[in-house]
Amino acid sequence: MTSLRRILIWISGASAGLGAALAATIPFENAELIDISRRGGTAGAHHVAVDLAEPASWPVVDDDFQQRIATCDPELVIFIHNAGTLTPLGSADHVDTAQYTRNVLLNSASAQVLGHSFLRAVSGRQCEQHLIMISSGAAMRPHEGEASYCAGKAGIDQWVRTVGLEQRRRSPGCRVISVSPGALDTDMQAELRASNPFEVPDSTRFREMEALGQLSKPENVARIIWSLLDRDLESGAVLHVHDLI
Ligand SMILES: NC(=O)c1ccc[n+]([C@@H]2O[C@H](COP(=O)([O-])OP(=O)(O)OC[C@H]3O[C@@H](n4cnc5c(N)ncnc54)[C@H](OP(=O)(O)O)[C@@H]3O)[C@@H](O)[C@H]2O)c1
Repeated sequence: MTSLRRILIWISGASAGLGAALAATIPFENAELIDISRRGGTAGAHHVAVDLAEPASWPVVDDDFQQRIATCDPELVIFIHNAGTLTPLGSADHVDTAQYTRNVLLNSASAQVLGHSFLRAVSGRQCEQHLIMISSGAAMRPHEGEASYCAGKAGIDQWVRTVGLEQRRRSPGCRVISVSPGALDTDMQAELRASNPFEVPDSTRFREMEALGQLSKPENVARIIWSLLDRDLESGAVLHVHDLI
């Protein structure tokens, strides 16, 4: 846990859940941390206060990438895109259109646009570069009542595979990976458990998992995610924490 390198780390959604756990377990003493979220409040972090379901917020984050990198001239840069939402839970033919649109903009579009912004900001720089997208088992397996969430995570994984191939031809390239964290004890899980089992049948399974104490602690999973920085992984890798323990 020691480093005197100039380090910049952005985490979207560091205000709660897995993002807050990632912020609390950063394995470097002197990293400059930037939380991209609505609430902020993360100890020791700069706050870029944005609603990522609003496309007008994306250039704000783009500017932050550009300006901090130009000012800091970092030796190590990391962006973990972790912000996500399940809202609105329910069948695609029943849910509210405005909420559904926000879900698509956050889970699908913001991931790709902010990922693109980060890659542009680090392109050609002689520093170690990491982009980690937080995905989900929902990328692989359809969950009724979570169509836009499942589609967003599947899109993230394919985006990662594709830009990972591109980055392998850069020197230095950005190492782009996605990782599914498994079922975590966070607010997102509580929202899932509270949903209607007729619209969201998986909510029953998660209620059982919670009762059996089978939800992972976000801090434990955060430490596994940080350990990926030191693992020999190809850019474009799509991973699940259960395969990494
Ligand atoms: N929990 C699980 O079991 C589980 C399983 C698989 C994958 N994941 C993934 O893990 C990641 C973290 O999930 P979590 O369980 O920690 O969720 P969470 O407890 O609900 O926290 C979500 C975070 O995302 C931020 N966020 C949500 N909407 C946002 C918006 N419109 N603009 C900016 N930030 C926004 C929130 O910040 P503000 O509210 O302050 O904006 C918060 O910090 C997500 O990508 C999720 O899909 C979770």
